[in-house]
Amino acid sequence: MSSTDSSRALFERALRVLPAGVSYAIRDIAPYPFYVARASGCRLTDVDGNLYTDYWSGHGALVLGHAPSSVVAAVSRQIEKGSHYGFSHALEVELAELVTAMVPGAELVRYTNSGTEANMYAVGLARAYTGRTRIAKMEGGWHGGYDPLRKAVHAPFDELEAGIDPAAVANTVVLPFNDLEAASAAIREGTLACVVVEPVLGAAGIIPSDCGYLAGLKALCDRHGTLLIFDEVITGFRLARGGAQELYGVTPDITILGKIVGGGFPVGALCGRREVLERLDHRRFPDRRAQAFHGGTFAANPVTMAAGIATLMALEDGSIHRRLDRLGELARTGIARIFESSGLDVAVTGIGSIFGIHFRRGAPRNAREASEADASLARGYHQAMLARGIAYLTPAVPHLFLNAAHTEEDLADFLAATEAFSHGVQGMACGYSRPASAGR
Ligand SMILES: Cc1ncc(COP(=O)(O)O)c(C=O)c1O
Repeated sequence: MSSTDSSRALFERALRVLPAGVSYAIRDIAPYPFYVARASGCRLTDVDGNLYTDYWSGHGALVLGHAPSSVVAAVSRQIEKGSHYGFSHALEVELAELVTAMVPGAELVRYTNSGTEANMYAVGLARAYTGRTRIAKMEGGWHGGYDPLRKAVHAPFDELEAGIDPAAVANTVVLPFNDLEAASAAIREGTLACVVVEPVLGAAGIIPSDCGYLAGLKALCDRHGTLLIFDEVITGFRLARGGAQELYGVTPDITILGKIVGGGFPVGALCGRREVLERLDHRRFPDRRAQAFHGGTFAANPVTMAAGIATLMALEDGSIHRRLDRLGELARTGIARIFESSGLDVAVTGIGSIFGIHFRRGAPRNAREASEADASLARGYHQAMLARGIAYLTPAVPHLFLNAAHTEEDLADFLAATEAFSHGVQGMACGYSRPASAGR
């Protein structure tokens, strides 16, 4: 008997019907995942009744926490009126009005169902607008499963991953993050349609851009006829009302949104300068040789739109961001102090309400440096934290997303669990079984 027997039984069933027993490899937890039965605020309850404090926050999408009442009410109201229309409706206009009011670079908006799709359409748009084919992305940058952007995502960065057509990435130039000189050399050639960059490198471990890096990229792109695309799927509406572009004071030509803009429902969006987005206007560009394409059965799904509107309205006055930023700062300094006094080489990166923990000496400035972290120590930490009812992903590269339901008390628990782990790294020996009293 263990406290996770029902999860184990579900995993055994899952192995028969889902590859690796999971629906997304990054959700895997050894020896088997816990299965969520309910979620509310910042708490998860698994099928065995164990409670966890959730620092993964739905891949970062749930900035208000799980099932916030305003979103639940808006979605319930909408479902009564229809879950999917396939025709134009008011909510798509209302959400676009909010997005354009909040995001500095957004003058026009189009919706997709995922960040992957939004990036895919944005690359096509940039190619149509500039008449160029080559694109650039950052080493370690994750923009979803679209082949041209799936180059150099994981270490070793110079090997192509299985399933990718080499021809699809032949026009993708890979740049080291936070290296303006390398970017300058590539952009100066004047052949790039776009540079796609996350203002804070996410999947590689929440690595903020250096001071002046984004502004430098923007200046280079402007000078050489290249569009600057900010992938703000993580940072959009999280680092500020207007995302990272507001915080860093740099406005890209195109912005990719996802996660938060859908209020916990499947979403993606591309937005940007009117003149660029107008390439999607089939009335203005009836000739398909000039017109860029975007579309999809579920584009602007009304339930997603309702959830997105309720979420953005909650973020509008900036008070949630101010509170989350303060909690994030407390978390980063608290964790760093604990590891420093224990003598373990651990660096904490991040900004605002997001942070990464790297089991290496010194904060990484790019994905290559982040990949040098001690993944087995990270896994030990993950298991120790989980045993104390604290959940996040991934076990090897800790990504943590605060949400509006987290309190200073939660943070104190997090720090106490980190302290317990750091004392003798006793978490490494922890078993998977958790008492039902773990967490709250
Ligand atoms: C920066 C960034 N871009 C794009 C994506 C892909 O979004 P989706 O998973 O919705 O396709 C992600 C996913 O986490 C992401 O973090």
